[in-house]
Amino acid sequence: MLVQVLTLFPRLIDDFVAHGLPRIAVEKGALAVQAVDLRGFTHDVHRTVDDRPFGGGPGMVLLCAPIVAAVEQLEQDAATQPSGPPHRVMLTPRGRRLDQRKLRELAARPRLLLLCGHYEGIDERVRLAMPWDELSLGDFVLSGGEPAALALLDGIARLLPGVTGDPESTVHESFEDDLLEAPHYTRPREFRGMAVPEVLLSGDHAAIARWRREQSLLITKERRADLLQARAARQAATEGKPWIE
Ligand SMILES: C[S@@+](CC[C@H](N)C(=O)[O-])C[C@H]1O[C@@H](n2cnc3c(N)ncnc32)[C@H](O)[C@@H]1O
Repeated sequence: MLVQVLTLFPRLIDDFVAHGLPRIAVEKGALAVQAVDLRGFTHDVHRTVDDRPFGGGPGMVLLCAPIVAAVEQLEQDAATQPSGPPHRVMLTPRGRRLDQRKLRELAARPRLLLLCGHYEGIDERVRLAMPWDELSLGDFVLSGGEPAALALLDGIARLLPGVTGDPESTVHESFEDDLLEAPHYTRPREFRGMAVPEVLLSGDHAAIARWRREQSLLITKERRADLLQARAARQAATEGKPWIE
């Protein structure tokens, strides 16, 4: 999979990909990341990428011309590749909130182009000029799209085949199956009077799986009942039957 990131700070992306799991994904050949400097698509001596907003107001707005030129250039380059044109993603607080289901969908694509905004945002005509998958990291405002692009990149890298040592590790995780994960324990068996639940020491795999499922349901009900409700609504809509036994 190739992920191209259109940004004012390409080194941020390069540095991130040089560490941890994204680096492993790159070394294993599952992922290639290319940071593309937006300033490389300007034509003036100052390499201008922004200007004041029409209508007044604070801050600066990213110009549409360098962004559209960059996207068109990258897509033209992609035209000769077997992966085909990239799926365009704009990181914006106005986008749909990113979740694990969306990450899985994106991880299945051969090529992504991530656009990171800055300052007050991006000239609206970038959005109007071509279709974008508009995604948000959450209901808060970042100074730039890079942390959102990196979060997305990190989440995708660990879903790519062959990247994590044990493929099971990404299957029994929070948000898979609309549940939060059950608690984990490791050595020692007792810490400051807190013992590891007996069932985890029992060696009874069926009982352990049952316990984990129960804990998962319990913690999701307590903390994120919305996940269960959304799941139940989806299930009812598609199969006409309730999900929670
Ligand atoms: C300071 S923000 C612009 C915020 C904009 N003025 C608003 O009120 O919606 C600059 C850039 O950071 C990125 N950004 C900020 N918050 C984000 C979020 N929650 N999710 C994804 N990207 C975000 C976007 O690329 C945005 O263009």
